[in-house]
Amino acid sequence: MKLSTEIERKIDTLLAQMTLAEKIGQLAQYTNGAELTGPEGEPVDLNRLARDGAVGSVLNYTGVADTKKIQDIAVNESRLGIPLMFGYDVIHGYKTGFPIPLAQAASWNMELIEKSEQIAAREASAAGVNWAFTPMLDIARDPRWGRVIEGAGEDTYLGSRIATARVRGLQGDNPAAKDRVLACAKHYVGYGAAQAGRDYFTCDLTERTLREVYLPPFQAAVTAGVGSIMPAFNEIDGVPMTANKTLIKDVLIDEFGFNGCLVSDWTAVHELVAHGVAANDKEAATLAINAGVDIDMCSGSYSKYLAELVAEGAVEEAVIDDSVRRVLRSKFALNLFELPHKNTDLELERRVVEAPEHFEFSRQLARECIVLLKNQNALLPLAKDITSIAVVGPFADSKQDACGAWRAQTDSNKAVTVLAGVRAAVGNNTVVTYAAGCSAEHKDLSELATAVQAVEQSDIAIVVLGEFADSSGEAACLTDLNFSGGQGELIRAVHATGKPVVLVVQSGRPFTIAWEVENIPAIIQAWHLGSRAGNAVADVLFGDFNPCGKLPMTMPRSIGQVPIFYNCKNTGRPFDADNKYCSKYLDSPNTPLYPFGFGLSYSRFDYSNLRLSSPEMAIDDIITVSVDVTNNSSRTGKEVVQLYIHDLVASITRPVMELKGFQKIELTASEWKTIVFEISATMLEFYGADMQKIVEAGEFTVFLGGSSQECLQTNFILK
Ligand code: BGC
Repeated sequence: MKLSTEIERKIDTLLAQMTLAEKIGQLAQYTNGAELTGPEGEPVDLNRLARDGAVGSVLNYTGVADTKKIQDIAVNESRLGIPLMFGYDVIHGYKTGFPIPLAQAASWNMELIEKSEQIAAREASAAGVNWAFTPMLDIARDPRWGRVIEGAGEDTYLGSRIATARVRGLQGDNPAAKDRVLACAKHYVGYGAAQAGRDYFTCDLTERTLREVYLPPFQAAVTAGVGSIMPAFNEIDGVPMTANKTLIKDVLIDEFGFNGCLVSDWTAVHELVAHGVAANDKEAATLAINAGVDIDMCSGSYSKYLAELVAEGAVEEAVIDDSVRRVLRSKFALNLFELPHKNTDLELERRVVEAPEHFEFSRQLARECIVLLKNQNALLPLAKDITSIAVVGPFADSKQDACGAWRAQTDSNKAVTVLAGVRAAVGNNTVVTYAAGCSAEHKDLSELATAVQAVEQSDIAIVVLGEFADSSGEAACLTDLNFSGGQGELIRAVHATGKPVVLVVQSGRPFTIAWEVENIPAIIQAWHLGSRAGNAVADVLFGDFNPCGKLPMTMPRSIGQVPIFYNCKNTGRPFDADNKYCSKYLDSPNTPLYPFGFGLSYSRFDYSNLRLSSPEMAIDDIITVSVDVTNNSSRTGKEVVQLYIHDLVASITRPVMELKGFQKIELTASEWKTIVFEISATMLEFYGADMQKIVEAGEFTVFLGGSSQECLQTNFILK
């Protein structure tokens, strides 16, 4: 965040007027109880706290009617009149529901992702929220972990690009603007590496993995000017992040230059006791504040103990001052001292929130997130004048599940399901029959026959399987990534009819669908796509939109392969079909069901003529790599051209390939374009044995293609 010296002076002046109690008040955050994402704390009288200057920010207030009331108390009735910040989890849209963030990552479209945050910020801000607890930047390589839905998937480079786009979308050039909010990058750091994919579980990461894989998206967010950061629940190397002075002070603040405020996760200060690093809440408060965690979300430990701790000398008042300064800086960045309410106009809130163009945008974004996984004999797109269609599956007409988990104020009653989307897309002459066919909760197969009959009487079956919205997200981890309840039986029974089948997978994470890929001719990964999910799916099914999404996470064949990700190491015994003693399974190939970056189109893109501007490169040089991409089809389509690099020999083993660039391009029928990427030495850097960044001379392979496994490749030498 950029703030003037004049504001820094104002902060000093204000700080000099504050009592210790008022300072501690700025560091306390409580919920109004509207939404609980963790254990319920002791009830507090928020109006009284605001009047006493004993709370600095609140969460879960939504709607200007409510935010205005308490803000007026803070500003007009407290001694110093310091305004509150209003935090809220705006994860994928405020009220107009957008696709879950993992789905958005599949769009590889930075412009659309930025715009989705801009709209979310516009709606949230019109509703009184000025601080969004988003973006979630945790790299996730394990689909058992429910929170994969909130992030950008498994890749650090893609994740960093998305981090930048999201921060820009939320904050714009100035978070004080009426239609922007303060962003909060979370969860710092390593949260996605929870062992066994179990939420809140221990993370055991080497400094190298931390630096190479998990930290870069946070650094990108800091560079983009993110206003706040939330430390994660997990520990790293025995130190919970809420008490991790090294990673907060040394890395985030000193090394990356972060100057915004840090807000703990929900009751995470208190949880230092359960972690076993603090004997009680008082010790927990000491550890957290001394580590640099400025705001205590919902645990009450700062309010209860900081004054005592300062009196006893366990916490220096200068440490408190430092934290208060950070909080005030955020409030100045939001211009709250001059305009404590960005909006108080109910009418404006009504107009902005769920504006028709926001729903239109939701559809536009959603269809770009859909990944076409299989399309045997060009079964898709379907003709709109088809005589009869059976739409079956327990998620085919579930509005709530189409919206996805953690949907803020999204009104699922207004969501469009796949059934509704299909009905709206076809003409009056097409008969659309619907049957749920089974439950996704248990193996009740009593409705199977009805679904089979509907399919038998139709020309084609569209089967919508997946998971409940709330089967993914926080505290929603799974040990089984097969379809739940009777869904497995349903798809087999539909397949047995011999009718052509299109499978639509509506999930918050990659599922293990090996049988389906073997047997079902057309499959689309449709995620949880938000308010206009069904329209977006229908746009793809009937060819009004040519699919262009690419997987941001590897799809495993079975849960036994997890964690599986494309940028792994080669090992000393890489896969060799003829050798037992190499790194492989006896009962499964190493390769995934679908690789990172994979996604089909109704167009066919051919890559040719890969060439370098020079086969050699000096360290301060830039060379280019180019490829011709041709749309060998009669349809306009979009393709994500992906650039990967592999360092063949280095002092530290390097991944088999790493994403270093991408371009989303559009080609009309039969059009071809030369796509050019620059390669510079910074793209070849890695952390050496002493954990300093270095570039080593030698040979590199550069890959260009439409997925991590379908690339043309060539080599160059760094001199
Ligand atoms: C989550 C955070 C969220 C917070 C406030 C926690 O349980 O981990 O991501 O911002 O709750 O709702």
